[in-house]
Amino acid sequence: MLSEAPAVAEFYGSFIGGEEASASTASTFQTFDPATGLPLTTIQRGAQADVDAAVANAQEAFPAWRDLPGFERGRILLAISRKILENKDRLVELESRDNGKSYMDAGFDVITAARYFEYYAGVADKLGGETIPIGATHVSYTRPEPYGVTAHIVPWNAAFQQAARGVAPALAAGNVAVVKPAEDTSITTVVLAKLAIEAGLPAGVFNVVTGLGREAGAALVKHPGVSRITFTGSVPTGQEIMRSAAENLNPVTLELGGKGPNIIFEDADLSAAIPGSLMAININAGQVCAAGSRLLVHSSIHDQVVEKLVTMNAGVKLGAGWTGAQMGPITTAAQFKKVQEYLEIGKNEGAIVAVGGSAATGDGVDGGQFIQPTIFTGVKNSMRIAQEEIFGPVLSVIVFDTEDEAVAIANDTPYGLTAGMWTQNLGRAHRVAAQIEAGQVSVNDYFAGGVQAPFGGYKASGIGREKGMSAIHEYLQTKAVSIKL
Ligand code: NAI
Ligand code: MG
Repeated sequence: MLSEAPAVAEFYGSFIGGEEASASTASTFQTFDPATGLPLTTIQRGAQADVDAAVANAQEAFPAWRDLPGFERGRILLAISRKILENKDRLVELESRDNGKSYMDAGFDVITAARYFEYYAGVADKLGGETIPIGATHVSYTRPEPYGVTAHIVPWNAAFQQAARGVAPALAAGNVAVVKPAEDTSITTVVLAKLAIEAGLPAGVFNVVTGLGREAGAALVKHPGVSRITFTGSVPTGQEIMRSAAENLNPVTLELGGKGPNIIFEDADLSAAIPGSLMAININAGQVCAAGSRLLVHSSIHDQVVEKLVTMNAGVKLGAGWTGAQMGPITTAAQFKKVQEYLEIGKNEGAIVAVGGSAATGDGVDGGQFIQPTIFTGVKNSMRIAQEEIFGPVLSVIVFDTEDEAVAIANDTPYGLTAGMWTQNLGRAHRVAAQIEAGQVSVNDYFAGGVQAPFGGYKASGIGREKGMSAIHEYLQTKAVSIKL
């Protein structure tokens, strides 16, 4: 625990062609510390010209990066991973101040980011094609080839980790990248680009344009020099980006959030299920696309589960990350307002506040955007608090009686990103996992896939897959070469 908030630089600017923009010439905007409401730093408000420069630098860097032997790209990515770990403490401080994360959550993000570069470093020299038997008179084979400039639009909830999640596989596959971080949380993406240069990445391979979504972000996704787009964020913005991508016929990966069902069956080991289910909603103050935000509990164990969850939630310490608190604030002012609105919506819909239920006040949280970790009971799956992504520490508890009913409730939302279940019955685990409409299912755990398991949405939760070998294939296009002998 520190005695005061760690310092943050006065300015962070776009990082293009290996150089950071200068504070003296940049158009800027102010960001705020979500734990106090006080000014935090100044960020360059990137415009069309900055996006043009970033794309041009990336295009120039592309052929040499693409043509490096895979093992050499891999060595550089591994060096970036090591750089991240060497700078872990500072990155945690910066991410925590910028986003509001607890040090535990920020530490998890930094380590995960390092893992992305490590994992894809090992993949970079293993990307072969196949030979196709088209007949004795011909030789036919495929070449997996990178697209060129990939654009990455990153949200604010896990800025550093999400930037790494897209950039590491894109670069491993031989692409070059331009990243537009979210306006509220640009700091660690700019720092990552600098660390990558220190680790030996050639200038121009990884560029960052800071700025607003409707300015720098929109300019980037419409840019004719961009060949592939990766976006994580809200459904409407994802739809808008997909429409922009259609203009240039660019493929998209869209990760658009969820309303994760987390099912506790009557045969679950409650000593694991209860803390695991609370972690699934409280991590990063619930600002997680994959959060287990709907807790489906069998009627026979409902009361005992809720009682324990309420006791544990009441003890959660809120505060700025550097104070050692367990849960930080809501990152953006707009999101803070949105979560409070959903607390009122839930009450008006007739759900019962078992614990929490409002913004937090008092020493260490006044002025900040803190929400009391909240549990609603008596929730019907048709309520808005069960259907819509709240993106805050708000758990909706829904009762069920049979396995079929649990599956039906689990699948009854527009989303399908992640799901969890807790059961000792192996047959049930496989049976239910097969019936759940979601891209990722965890059993007797939540968020179990690490960086290796494919991650992405069914239904309105998105298109394409990130993480694992699936992501590498998203960043490669196949060329078939056939030769008559
Ligand atoms: P958003 O989708 O508007 O913003 C995400 C990113 O897109 C930011 O970098 C933003 O600058 C950029 N952006 C916005 N408009 C753009 C445009 N026209 N062209 C290109 N880039 C653009 O999300 P917002 O407003 O920050 O949050 C709204 C809701 O979205 C949240 O309440 C939450 O429910 C959901 N969300 C989901 C996330 C996830 O992990 N899937 C992450 C963040 C938010
Ligand atoms: Mg928005």
